[in-house]
Amino acid sequence: MAISSSPQPQLTDLLSRSDRVPSHYIRPISDRPNLHDVHTLDVSIPLIDLEGLDGPDRPIIVQEIGLACQTDGFFQVKNHGIPQHVIDDMSHIAKEFFQLPESEKLKSYSDNPLKATRLSTSFNIKREKVSNWRDYLRLHCYPLEEFVDEWPTNPPSFRSIVSLYSTRARGLALRLLEAISESLGLENDYIEKALGKQAQHMAINYYPRCPQPELTYGLPGHTDPNALTVLLQDQVSGLQVLRNGKWVAVNPIPNTFVVNIGDQIQVLSNGQYKSVLHRAVVNNNVERISIPTFYCPSPDAVIGPAHKLIDGQHPAIYRRFTYEEYYKRFWDHGLQTESCLELFRASSG
Ligand code: OGA
Ligand code: NI
Repeated sequence: MAISSSPQPQLTDLLSRSDRVPSHYIRPISDRPNLHDVHTLDVSIPLIDLEGLDGPDRPIIVQEIGLACQTDGFFQVKNHGIPQHVIDDMSHIAKEFFQLPESEKLKSYSDNPLKATRLSTSFNIKREKVSNWRDYLRLHCYPLEEFVDEWPTNPPSFRSIVSLYSTRARGLALRLLEAISESLGLENDYIEKALGKQAQHMAINYYPRCPQPELTYGLPGHTDPNALTVLLQDQVSGLQVLRNGKWVAVNPIPNTFVVNIGDQIQVLSNGQYKSVLHRAVVNNNVERISIPTFYCPSPDAVIGPAHKLIDGQHPAIYRRFTYEEYYKRFWDHGLQTESCLELFRASSG
C-alpha cells in the first residue's frame, strides 16, 4: 500500500478542495454508506433531562438512563450543568486549531496510536487499507497536570480553554457513571472504582467537506473501546447509530451532549448494557467538528463483569483483562463491524 510508507503525512484537509476523492479513500461497493438508506427520525435516540438528577426525581432519571443504556446504548442529555460559555469556547478553539496553517498543525503529528498527544489522520493510518475522511487531534486530559504541558500552545488560549472544558466534561462523565452504576443495582461508585485511577482522552475530530461522500467515511462503523463517551458536536449532521439493523442519523440538538456506552461498560454490566455500533459520514457542503470525551479505565485496571451481575442464569460473558491489553488490541484490530469485544469472550481465551 502506498500510504503505509509515505514519509510525508498527508492530512485530509488538503484534499477538501479537489473534485474527487483519491483512490485510497474509496470503500469497496459492499462497504459504502448508502446515504439514501439512512433513517432520519425526529427523536432518534432518547433525550434525557438531567435537571432533577440530584433531587427527588433521581430514581426516575436513573431508570430512564438505564433503559437507554439497555436498548439504544446511546442517549442525549440536556440541562447537563456545563455552562454554555465553556462549550462555546471549546467549540471555537477546536475550529481555530484546525484553521492553523498545515505546517503549524503538523508540529503535533504522529501516527503512533499509543502516543498521548498527537495530531493524526484517518484512524490508524499505518495499518489500515482504506483511509477515512478525517483529521484529528488526540489529547489525554486526566490527570490534567500530567498531560497539559504536552498540548499545543497555538492558538495561545488552547491549553486554558481545553483544561476548563475537559474538567467539566469529566464532572459530567462521573455523574453519569454514578447514575449508570445505580441503574444496574450496584453501589453508586462501583464503576468509578472499577476504572482504577481512571483516564480521560479527548479527540477533536475534523471532517473536511468531501467531494464524494458516498464513497468514503469520516469514521466507519465501530464501537468505542472506553467506558463512556460524552460527545460535543457542532450543528452539522454526520453521526449515525445502528438500530435494529438500520443506520439512524443523530441530528444535533443545540446545548445537548450525545452519550454512549463503550465496550468497558458492556463488560462490567455483563452484557446488560450495549456498546453500539456507530459511524460518522461526511458531506460535500461543509466541514464538521465533533469532540468526544472518552472516559476510560487506567491502563492497569482489571476489567471484568461485576460479581453482583453474575449468577447461574447469567454466567460471566467476558473474561477479565487489563485495559492496557484491550486498548492495544483495539488499535491493532482496526475499525471493523465486528467489535473488539468478541476477542474477550469468556470462552475464547
Ligand atoms: C468517535 C466517534 C463520532 C462523530 O470519535 O469515536 O464515534 O460524530 N465520533 O464524530
Ligand atoms: Ni466512536
